[in-house]
Amino acid sequence: MTTNGTPELKPILVFDSGIGGLTVLREARLLMPERGFIYVADDAGFPYGGWEEAPLKARIIALFGELLARHDPEAVVVACNTAFTLAGADLRQHFPDRRFIGTVPAIKPAAERTRSGLVSVLATPGTVKRAYTRDLIQSFASQCHVRLVGSENLARMAEAYIRGEVLDDAAVIAEIAPCFVEKDGARTDIVVLACTHYPFLANVFRRLAPWPVDWLDPAEAIARQARRLVPLVDGAEHPDDLDFAVFTSGSPDFSTRRLMQGMGLSVKVTSTPYLA
Ligand code: DGL
Repeated sequence: MTTNGTPELKPILVFDSGIGGLTVLREARLLMPERGFIYVADDAGFPYGGWEEAPLKARIIALFGELLARHDPEAVVVACNTAFTLAGADLRQHFPDRRFIGTVPAIKPAAERTRSGLVSVLATPGTVKRAYTRDLIQSFASQCHVRLVGSENLARMAEAYIRGEVLDDAAVIAEIAPCFVEKDGARTDIVVLACTHYPFLANVFRRLAPWPVDWLDPAEAIARQARRLVPLVDGAEHPDDLDFAVFTSGSPDFSTRRLMQGMGLSVKVTSTPYLA
């Protein structure tokens, strides 16, 4: 019970390798104002994009074993395409009594909306390699021409940008250029932002794109799915000490702490490190 006698609600845990999941957290907060949020960044493992599949999967499962035991959330939003396309099914299998809301490349809505039939998926190198991503294309976009673009550097660049660093335009252009395809007089008209870090750069992408496209950010759709799975409880509220961020490195830098505070999250320093 809270101090005024209303039932206490469990938090929602939002997970990513870094700060990308904040793009999902900000939408989830709008739709679930009665809930507290725990934001977890596996910054000790960042970036996930370059990892081999087997060790990354093992790391994610082991980390979730600890996170679920320590924080006992009502639901988990895996706000990371690279993690969920690899380990989503295994997470559900390992923790069958938990609710997971996943993040996968928004290929289906892109295929439904494209007029030119040319769609690009901008993601980490890990996500573009996944069988999951190929299956999405086969199931929902077989009538489209889908270009998969795996970016080595954009997740790091998004982290730097959001901490206030200035990005080199030419470096950004080099990462996004392969998304722009011209074929038989048609041009790419939708680019799926299939890494949760990338919406932070959407304005930069718009400014530097060779022609206007729709940059598809799935954050709101993920938040809506979370809302559907976690119904409102009349009169219940979250305890005041919720809304904090956890970093697996245990030591986020000053600008990251400031960013978290700006998002209304305090940074929790854990005495026992994760995956020790
Ligand atoms: N934000 C993550 C994603 O959605 C990945 C960034 C990374 O760790 O490479 O895919």
